[in-house]
Order: sequence, then structure tokens, then C-alpha cells
Amino acid sequence: PDLFMPERTNSKGWDMRDTPDMTAIDTARGAFANHAWTADPLVADQTPDGAVHPVLNPARPDDHVGQVTWAGPETVAQAVEAASPWNAPAVVRAAVLTHAAHLYEENFGELFALLHREAGKSVMDAIAELREAVDFLRYYAARATDAPALGRFACISPWNFPLAIFTGQIAAALAAGNAVLAKPAEQTPLIAVRAAELMIEAGVPPTALQILPGDGVTGAALTSNPAIDGVAFTGSTETAQIIHKTMATHLNPGAPLIAETGGLNAMVVDSTALPEQAVQAIIESAFQSAGQRCSALRCLYVQEDIADGFIDMLKGAMDCLQIGDPWQTHCDVGPVIDEEARAGIQDYIDEAMAKGRVLHALPCPDNGHFVAPTLIKVNSIADLGKEVFGPALHVATFKSEELDAVIDAINGTGYGLTFGLQTRIDDRVQYVADRIEAGNIYVNRNQIGAIVGSQPFGGEGLSGTGPKAGGPLYLDRFRSHPVDQSEL
Ligand code: SER
Repeated sequence: PDLFMPERTNSKGWDMRDTPDMTAIDTARGAFANHAWTADPLVADQTPDGAVHPVLNPARPDDHVGQVTWAGPETVAQAVEAASPWNAPAVVRAAVLTHAAHLYEENFGELFALLHREAGKSVMDAIAELREAVDFLRYYAARATDAPALGRFACISPWNFPLAIFTGQIAAALAAGNAVLAKPAEQTPLIAVRAAELMIEAGVPPTALQILPGDGVTGAALTSNPAIDGVAFTGSTETAQIIHKTMATHLNPGAPLIAETGGLNAMVVDSTALPEQAVQAIIESAFQSAGQRCSALRCLYVQEDIADGFIDMLKGAMDCLQIGDPWQTHCDVGPVIDEEARAGIQDYIDEAMAKGRVLHALPCPDNGHFVAPTLIKVNSIADLGKEVFGPALHVATFKSEELDAVIDAINGTGYGLTFGLQTRIDDRVQYVADRIEAGNIYVNRNQIGAIVGSQPFGGEGLSGTGPKAGGPLYLDRFRSHPVDQSEL
């Protein structure tokens, strides 16, 4: 197949403006409105040794979503030993993963219910997330080859895309022929186990896909097991650094770490930008998914000449956001993932409030783990220091002659994930794009929601190792590359 356009199509998804689509969503997910799921580790031939934990709804803590049994270190060790790379021909692996994509789409009601109730995702987010998961399955299936796999791959995924990123890492490792040992995020094990059951129903051998729910103890037991041949991780930069050290101590020195981590993402709005377009892009980039995306906009730079009117317009658009239970179709901003996250973000906002830096904040429900979308004044992105993973947007202004200094400050954070530019000066687009160090640069649109196959996603510097997910180079890192001695 062609390197950049393998034969496959992206999922068509569901359209929230379409009444039959919305009726279908309501009917299908309605069956799971009060369902309680039970998830055990999916391991080949063992009895889990871990403790049982409840899973609660972050929007309604009295809603018992289910329970999960964690995999203790003993279960992890036995699973690694039982793991067996998927030796079927590439054409068979591709057909099974493509069938899994179909099963995901068929079971959309249950997956949407889990995305709302376990992960706090709105309907709009759930539609996008299921599409992305399905697209990853089809995209990597189309790229499966018979080149040798590495062996046993550990896939460690985050709660903010508990279906899409969980599936993407696994689909890539399986398409390359590896055995996968996956540890889903502590907060979102139910959807992970359900999705893995669908992959196994599609034909993935249970010895090639084992799921190990748990916390950092489970993750450390996995990444320190010398039989692991590679790790795919998405999460914080700090955790990636810990995994890197653990791998360096215990694993074969050739074992790759594929890490997608955090960002301090900026957008620059100059005085020629279309204000309505820019405001819409900012609202989506900063507040969709309650700001819990690594791609989310954290620091907005507005050119001083237009700043007062522009920020007023932004506040007006914030006032239109509906905050609440993500099961409701009108919800724009759902809860943050848990109480620990809520308290941390709220403390940060309270501190900004005490310093008189809060320009605008919205009211929000007090039951559930909600944080109000908030606008915070800063002088520069350098004032942020760390990534605050929630709906807190910082705003700074700049004079037209300060554009280079703004670019330097953005690059100076050391992160390099997404960047947005709003301008109608064509030369400026090239000028800024040539200088900004970021994996994904978006012009005159929002800066979230990369599309598999069209917009490979990943950053540089503190934001990740590459290669980009959903791009043509990703699978190569999951394969074995014997060094050709003649080239040394
Ligand atoms: N792939 C996601 C996005 O582009 C990552 O957060 O928004």
C-alpha cells in the first residue's frame, strides 16, 4: 500500500445535529444507564491476586458504575510468562483488528455509557473518542506486515482517552505481531476490559492480549519485568521519566519506550484574526473534555491592539457553556476525572484568585468533581510552570514587535505538543510555523482532535519521544530491527 494513504476509511461516527442519529444513541446507551459492570484482569489461565475496587461516576459520586479487581505483582508475572506473540500471518491479524473495529461500532451504546459514566465524557467527546478508537484499529490493521515483531509489549494508557489511546497502543502492537500486556488507567478499567473483550471476540488470541488493571504498583511490576521487550506509554512527563529509569535498570537496553506525554500548549491570535472563528477555536481547545487533553490550549496570546474587545467576546462565549452531567446531550463541559484532580486544579485557581489574576470564572455544580472554566491573566507562558490538567485557560497580551519574544517564550517551556495560530497574514503562518517547536501546528482552527491517518499526533521535547500515533512511522517502533552488520 501507499506509504501515506493505506487502503481504509475513517469511521463516519454520529452527527449530533441529526435526529435519527441522536435517537439511536439515546436508545442504545439507555440500556446501560443503570448497569453495573464487573471487570477482572483478562489473563491467560490464572486467578487474580489483587483487591477489588469500586468505580464511581465523576459527575455523580453516588452512581456505582461497577467494580474492578486489580492485578497484583504475582498476576503480572504470570501474565508476562503466559504471553505469546501473535504469529498469525499479517493478513489474518489485519482481518481480526478490522473485525474488532466493527464490533466497537456495533456496541457503541455500551461504550458511550461507559465513556459518560466512568470517564465523565460528554456525548460530543464520546462520539469523537469511539471514532478515533475505530480509526486506530483500521489504520494499523491496514499497515500490518509479516516483518518480525519485538515480542512482549507493555501498553500503559491514560484515563483521558480510556478507549481511543488504550485501543491505539494495543492495535499498533498487535498489528506488528506482538503479545500485549496492557495496564489501563486506574480510574477507567471498566471500558478497557470491555474493549479488550471485544478484541478477543473478534479473534485476538487471549495469550496475545492480557489486561492488567491496577495502579502504579501494577505498572511498575510490568515495566520492570525483564521479559518485556518494549513499552508504549501515554501520560505525564514525570511518569514517563520514571518508566524510562525502570526500563534502563531491568530491561534489555534495546527495548524501546514510545511515550506521549504532556504539553504547555499556546495559541497566538494577532490583530488580523477573525474574532468569531478564533473565539470558537479557543473555547473548543481549552474547555472541551473539561480541558483534560494533552493537546488542550493552556496559554492564549492576544495582540494588545484587539485584546480588550477580544477578551470580552471570549468571556461571553464562556458564559454560554453548559456545565453538568455528561449524559445530558446539552452538556459542553463535564466533570474532571476524580476528587484528587478537582482539588488540585481548584487549589491552583484559588491561588490565582487570591493574587487577583482571575479574569472570569463560571458557576458550576457543587455535587460531583466539577471545576468551572476559568480565565487567568498571566504576563507570559513562563508564568505557568506546570501543566494544569483541567479547564483553566491563561491569557497574555503581546505587542506586534514582540512576536519573536512570544515564540521564544513558548519554545522555552521545553514542551512541544500542539500550537495554534489565528491570523490572516499568509507570510506570518510560514514565519511562525518555521520557528515554533511543536509536533502539531493548527492554523485558523482549534488545536485538539487530531484525525487518525490525516493528522498524525505527537510532540517533541518534554512532550514525547515520537513517532506520531496514527501516522505512517508508528508501527515501525513496535517491530524488531536487526542491525545490518555490513552497514556498521
Ligand atoms: N489526540 C488527542 C487530540 O488531538 C490528544 O489529546 O486532542
